[in-house]
Amino acid sequence: MSHPRMLIALAATGLAVGAAAPAQAGNEAAETATFYKDVLPILQANCQTCHRPVGQNIGGLVAPMSLTSYAETRPWARSIASKVEAREMPPWFATGPAGVFANERGLTDAEIDTILRWVDAGAPAGDSADAPPSRQWTEEASGGWSNGAPDFIVKLPEPYRVEDDIYDLNANLFHTLTETELPQDTWVRGWEFKTGTEGVVHHMCVFFRPPGTAYTPAPGATEGADALGELLSCIAEGAESGMLPDGFGVLLEKGTSLIFNMHYHKEPADGSGVWSQPEVGFFVADEPVRYKVQNDFIPNAGFEIPPQHPHYRVGTSRLLEKDTYVLTYWPHAHLRATGARYTAVYPDGSEELLLDVPHYDQNWQETYKYKEPKLLPQGTRIDVDFWYDNTAERAARRDFDPNRAVGHGNRTDDEMALAFIGYAEVDPEAAATDNQN
Ligand code: HEC
Repeated sequence: MSHPRMLIALAATGLAVGAAAPAQAGNEAAETATFYKDVLPILQANCQTCHRPVGQNIGGLVAPMSLTSYAETRPWARSIASKVEAREMPPWFATGPAGVFANERGLTDAEIDTILRWVDAGAPAGDSADAPPSRQWTEEASGGWSNGAPDFIVKLPEPYRVEDDIYDLNANLFHTLTETELPQDTWVRGWEFKTGTEGVVHHMCVFFRPPGTAYTPAPGATEGADALGELLSCIAEGAESGMLPDGFGVLLEKGTSLIFNMHYHKEPADGSGVWSQPEVGFFVADEPVRYKVQNDFIPNAGFEIPPQHPHYRVGTSRLLEKDTYVLTYWPHAHLRATGARYTAVYPDGSEELLLDVPHYDQNWQETYKYKEPKLLPQGTRIDVDFWYDNTAERAARRDFDPNRAVGHGNRTDDEMALAFIGYAEVDPEAAATDNQN
């Protein structure tokens, strides 16, 4: 297997909605639901992004089984019924607000009902002539990139060795873009990462630094992420790639350096070492760019969660100095985190819930992407709260030490309270720029 299991290859741009709508039971509610006619369309639209054969799910998070054929799906029927009834599948961790995020997942009550009726009826196949055409995946035709073939690809020139004895390692791998890779200043409208290794990457972030701001760490240096440069984005289990909205872009100046910030995590053992050669595929903006996108985080690195505390809150906030379009949120924390919430406090004192993740799960590092950028006026304060459970009960399930006071740190067993946001400040003075000048 040569594909990273960290990226979910769900293009935010419509793959998920391309498949047929589920068949309506209509007035034949008593009629038996069948796999081909009723269930397969639901699986195509909501499940196959992750549940498809390993190797096709390129750059994708490899879910335990494929749900593309009747033979594959039938043995899982009971498990599927219980997971969809409990709303654990498809995974989605935000309870609010509903309907505003482009990558929101979920089944309607009618779809859940269809699946349950099908399973109750003994999970019949039905007539394969009723099946929708099978879903096509962009990666198959584009060398493993879920958004289609990138305009240019930057790969770490030499593979990096993650040795047998490594358990947890933060490595910053540095590469200055060559003339060939980036011949001129370029606005990009999207990017996708490949971790270049299988299964041992806990997360991968890419930072960039403009030319002339040299940064030459020792190989495998472990500085905190904040020192590295400007963040492009991060991926971890549960995170997808996607394109920026029209008119939004990130400027890469000629001579820019990329820093691949890799967090490797594995069981140390003889023969467990791997080579890692991460890459980034970039998509060039073909429209004039009006809004310069920045990705950074509202941090709190000064907390200490007491031993055995069941519900410790860590807060952080930022006051917006300009009118700001927000594009994404990504609450990032580790094993003890149980919840995260972003709230806007407007200049008039009124509040609006921006994102609520009441059952935070560090295994699913979801980036919440607006369908339409959210405009927050100058003077708005974004408040972010994280909650943590440092008790023995959670420790038994998540494997950490509950008798330790825990603060900010890079290791999986440390904690974090990093409230990432992707945004663009509205600058009325700024004229539109494009790749032509
Ligand atoms: C974003 C990727 C993703 C999507 C979309 C998704 N799944 Fe999953 N699913 C996973 C992963 C990863 C696991 C294994 C880890 C876990 O259970 O949390 C899993 C586990 C499961 C399991 C439990 C398997 C077991 O070992 O017991 C079932 C059943 C399941 N999924 C069904 C579905 C169905 C049905 C849908 C669509 C309605 C769906 N999933 C959508 C990623 C996904």
